Amino acid sequence: MVPASMEKTDQTLRPVDSEASSTAWFHPLEVFAGEDESNKWRQELSELEPPAHRTYTPTQAVLARSSGIYHWTTEGRRLYDFTSGVLVSNLGHNPLRWMRRFARYSQWQPNLLFGDIEGDEITRAEEFGMGLPMTAYNSVTSIEVLACERLVKSLQQTPLGRRLETIAWAASGSEAVHKALWVCLNRDPSRPMILATRYGYHGKKGLSNAVTGSESDRERDPRVRFIGFPREEIRDQSAAVSIDLSVYRKELESIWAEYGSKIGCLITEPYLGGGGSYHPPREYHQLLQQFCREHDILLIFDEVQANFGRTGSMYAFEKYGVEPDFVVLGKGLGNGVPVAAVAGSSKWMKMLPYGELSDTWSANPLSCAAVVATLDEFESRDLMSHVRQMEPRMLAGLNRLKETGLISYVRGEGMVYGIECAPFAGLAPAEVAAAIVSGCYQGQGLQSDGTWGDGIHLLGPLAKCVLRVSPPLVITSEQVKTSMELLYDLLKAVRQRFS
Ligand SMILES: Cc1ncc(COP(=O)(O)O)c(C=O)c1O
Repeated sequence: MVPASMEKTDQTLRPVDSEASSTAWFHPLEVFAGEDESNKWRQELSELEPPAHRTYTPTQAVLARSSGIYHWTTEGRRLYDFTSGVLVSNLGHNPLRWMRRFARYSQWQPNLLFGDIEGDEITRAEEFGMGLPMTAYNSVTSIEVLACERLVKSLQQTPLGRRLETIAWAASGSEAVHKALWVCLNRDPSRPMILATRYGYHGKKGLSNAVTGSESDRERDPRVRFIGFPREEIRDQSAAVSIDLSVYRKELESIWAEYGSKIGCLITEPYLGGGGSYHPPREYHQLLQQFCREHDILLIFDEVQANFGRTGSMYAFEKYGVEPDFVVLGKGLGNGVPVAAVAGSSKWMKMLPYGELSDTWSANPLSCAAVVATLDEFESRDLMSHVRQMEPRMLAGLNRLKETGLISYVRGEGMVYGIECAPFAGLAPAEVAAAIVSGCYQGQGLQSDGTWGDGIHLLGPLAKCVLRVSPPLVITSEQVKTSMELLYDLLKAVRQRFS
């Protein structure tokens, strides 16, 4: 039942208070005309889950099913998925070859799930199928061994990956970051300090939270010091980027002068993802690497969102010419099955006492099957060339949006972009961003023939006013063309509402 308060639907775009906290994005609950069923699901979920569970999905799109780069809402409206979850479904939604491989690695026979069974009627003899254990805590399975071997081989295909010899699994990116830092802190108790690049996002739990954000956030860990990451200099990708590294070098020197060999490790992201999509020149990372090598500081590259092809290279450390001591992987690693990992030097990983990196879900057989299926896909087709070919088309399409006056800066690479909103007609950039997310969700609306036109699924803004565009890597050139045209038209429609 739709509550009475929700019956009066409002299709106008509601500007959001730019200073409001992130919860303002969905309070009061978004209600869309003609979406009785979706409105009901939104309402029900808002009663069953705390608001803190949600972050960047202001429209709270109710997704009924998905295929490739498209979602369909409960009402049957098609949305281009410009999020890939949060950069997870790099191979698209329900990719058949991947699904078959996943099932095969899980040892599910073709008839196991649906064959020979009428409805839900299962005879006693058929009650259990034969396959991999669904969980194999603290045991050994061949799929776990295979996943480790294949992942190490994949990471070491370039000389830059040669330090990445051992895998510690995790269920989420935050846990994998926590584990990477845990390993580093264990190396030498006299080196308890961690350097982290400012405004990064590494997760919200434990040590991953300690290195997220900046010194001005709440509940800071005294072991962490933040260092600068380029932002202002690289606000727009169309300008030739040359940055003055001396500022960053001086900062590193002064921090070394203050803390010296108390510093044990440094964690950074290839590009600032959650912090607003800032993609630095390679030289910046090489400066960090040089500093780490000079002072025997362990370098952690957090590729949770950049790995598995997002940047146009299989791993971002290749793209940025960095040889990390540890690389943290997640999201696209399982194409939707929850799995993350830290890969690093055995020397340090094996120093941790027995059990210290263990938990229920790490190295779960199903997660391992997903990793191997994903690696198969990446290794059996040249997805990276495809992504690199799409890059200039994506950049051209996104830069064209500046003509609407709603977008001021565009940046990104491969298949991950940030478009920064401009102030417009008295609205703050954050208000413009919120209006665009809502306008894209509502899309072309009801057509004259009674069918719904397409929309675009976007997450809420990063750093208040940056919209991320990150479709599955498998988006075709035709889909790039049509989706960029649609985005342009939808932005023009948003502009018209405010003009
Ligand atoms: C770079 C980076 N590291 C770590 C994380 C945390 O991953 P998870 O949300 O799986 O805990 C994220 C999530 O967005 C991320 O982008």
